[in-house]
Amino acid sequence: MRIAIAGATGRIGSQLTALARKQGHEVVEVARETGFDLLSPDSGLEQALAGVDTVVDVTACPLDQAATFFPTVARNIGTAAAAAGVRRTVVLSIVGVDRSPDYDYYVAKLAQETAYRETAPGVVVLRATQFLDFASQMLAWNTQDGVATIIDVPTQPVATQEIVEVLLDLATGVIEGDTDLAGPQRVNLVDQVRALVEHSGQDVTVEAVEAPASLMAGAMLPGDDALVRGPGWDDWLGSQA
Ligand SMILES: NC(=O)c1ccc[n+]([C@@H]2O[C@H](COP(=O)([O-])OP(=O)(O)OC[C@H]3O[C@@H](n4cnc5c(N)ncnc54)[C@H](OP(=O)(O)O)[C@@H]3O)[C@@H](O)[C@H]2O)c1
Repeated sequence: MRIAIAGATGRIGSQLTALARKQGHEVVEVARETGFDLLSPDSGLEQALAGVDTVVDVTACPLDQAATFFPTVARNIGTAAAAAGVRRTVVLSIVGVDRSPDYDYYVAKLAQETAYRETAPGVVVLRATQFLDFASQMLAWNTQDGVATIIDVPTQPVATQEIVEVLLDLATGVIEGDTDLAGPQRVNLVDQVRALVEHSGQDVTVEAVEAPASLMAGAMLPGDDALVRGPGWDDWLGSQA
């Protein structure tokens, strides 16, 4: 198949590009680095999508740009994909975006899903829980003067490798329809970051801070119908150097 990956140079996108090529698919890499600014309606995307069967969107942006970025990019990709005759559009979203009107990033991700459903052909949405390495991102982003302030939220993180495999199955039609995906172990994000600090021997104190109420009440946790795959937090951390 010919698959276009928007965000092909990113964390998920680079793994997805490698797996798709390994399985014999042709990949069109879409990112600013490869010449496409998806915030522009005239990025040349429609021409690049000629002959493409499926578009997968795994783009991301800084938090303070999300409200504009996600729906704008979705509309630009959706419109170009429809005009180019693409048959399927796969979108990576997050478990809980429909349950967190008090958290701006999730409101923006829900707007992304809606914009796709309004513009793009054959939309399927994968809502995943947090990446297993989200804890290390949170530690890096939120540490100052030896103190990490981490939101006090229950999570059920999943391996990026599992996300990539399910995205490719959705792109090729092996899995059909909207899907939720989570790892097997429920663990608070603050406890993950504490374990990570101990595991890596860093001299950092981890303090729990409040999050939007919906997240503290469990909006990031999967429902009973979610696919559950891959290692849990404890096994994954134990496998890290
Ligand atoms: N972190 C989590 O725990 C989690 C959980 C579930 C779902 N998600 C979702 O996963 C998705 C992917 O996350 P990630 O960490 O893999 O992202 P990432 O590493 O930050 O990659 C972002 C990608 O988007 C591209 N991009 C950004 N702005 C662009 C623009 N204007 N035009 C074209 N391309 C642009 C970047 O390439 P250039 O810079 O070259 O343009 C890059 O390829 C996000 O949508 C996020 O919401 C995250």
